[in-house]
Amino acid sequence: VDLAPWNSFHLAETAEYFCQVETTAQLRECLTLAERNGWPLQIIGGGSNLLLAGPLSGLLVVIRSRGRRVLQRDPDSLLVEVEAGENWHQLVNWTLDLGLSGLENLALIPGTAGAAPVQNIGAYGVELADCFDSLDALDRQTGECLHLTREDCRFAYRDSLFKQQAGRWLILRIRLRLSRRPLHRIDYAPLRQAWEATGVKRPDPRLLAELVCAIRRSKLPDPDVLGNAGSFFKNPLVAADQALALAEQYPQLPQYPQSGGQYKLAAGWLIEQAGWKGRRLGPVGVHSEQALVLVNHGGARGRDVLVLADAVAADVQARFGVALEREPVLLGQVG
Ligand code: EPU
Repeated sequence: VDLAPWNSFHLAETAEYFCQVETTAQLRECLTLAERNGWPLQIIGGGSNLLLAGPLSGLLVVIRSRGRRVLQRDPDSLLVEVEAGENWHQLVNWTLDLGLSGLENLALIPGTAGAAPVQNIGAYGVELADCFDSLDALDRQTGECLHLTREDCRFAYRDSLFKQQAGRWLILRIRLRLSRRPLHRIDYAPLRQAWEATGVKRPDPRLLAELVCAIRRSKLPDPDVLGNAGSFFKNPLVAADQALALAEQYPQLPQYPQSGGQYKLAAGWLIEQAGWKGRRLGPVGVHSEQALVLVNHGGARGRDVLVLADAVAADVQARFGVALEREPVLLGQVG
C-alpha cells in the first residue's frame, strides 16, 4: 500500500499490509492476525508527526475510532472523553462550542486525539498535559486495557511514556478536564500582541483560537499543500553554563529558562543562522517561513528527509555546539 496519503509529509513509502479500524475489537483482531503471521504491527492516527524512513514490513493499522462525550460536569470544569481516532482540531472546536476553555491555544494542530499524548502536543504557551486527565490504552505486553493517569503518562516537553516505551502502548481514548471559565493564556508574545490588537477586553476562548489559527497559518505550511510533519527538531535543552556562554556570543539567540535550571534554545534561530532557512536539498527543504519545519517539495522518500536533517543537525552542532534531536516518530526500515 502506498502510504503517501497517510502521512502528512506525503513521503512515498509503502506498507506490506494495511488496515483501518474503528473499534477496539477490530484492533484486537489485527493484533491476533499480526501475531499469527509473525508480522510486526504499527499503529498511526493522522500520520502528522511521522517520519516514514523507508518501507514498512508487516501490518500498519490506522485508528479511525470516533466518539466524543461529556463524562462529568463540575461547577468549574467538565470532564470530556474522546476516542483516539477523532480529529484534533474538530475536537478543539467541539469544546469551544460547549463554552469550554483549555484547548484554544492548541487549535489547528494536525492529527488525532489519540496521537496527542504521544508527543504531548504543545503550542503558544500550552501543552496537552495542562488539561490532561487520563487515557485508556492497550498494553501489548499483556493484552490488558489499562487506565493511565497523567502521572502514569510521564509527560515532558514533546515527550511521554508512549515515546519512551515506543511500540508498547496503543491509545484507545483520552480524557481531558476543561475549564468553564476562560483561562486566557496569552504569555506567548505574538499571541498577546495579536490579542491586544483586537481591542477586545473580555477573555474569549473562541477569538483566541482564531488568533492562534492565524499565527499558525502565517508560519507553518499546510501539509495538504506542502508535505511536512510540523517542527522536525525539538528546541534543545542546555545547561545554564552553556546557555550563558551562547548568550554572550549570540545575544539575539532566544533562550527560555526551564524549571530544572536548564535553558531551552530556539532551534529555528540556530538553523536560520546556520543559513538553512528556505534551502533545498533534492526534493526536500527547510521551510522559508519557519526553519524548524522540513518540507517535501514533491516525490520525496524518507531517506531524503533524513539526509537533509543530518546535514542541518551536523551544521548546527559544528557552529554552536548544540545537538538537535528529531521530534517526529520514525517508522520503517532506513534504506
Ligand atoms: N526563529 C527564528 N527563525 C525561524 C524560526 C524561529 O529565528 O525560522 C525564532 C523566532 O524568532 C522566535 C523563536 O525562534 O523568537 C521561537 O520561534 P516560534 O515562536 O516560531 O516557535 P518555535 O520554538 O520555533 C515551537 C513549537 C511549535 C509551536 C510554536 C509556538 C517545538 C519543537 N515547536 O516552535 O510546535 O507551534 O513553538 O508555540 O517546540 C510542532 O511541534 O510541530 C510545532 C509546530
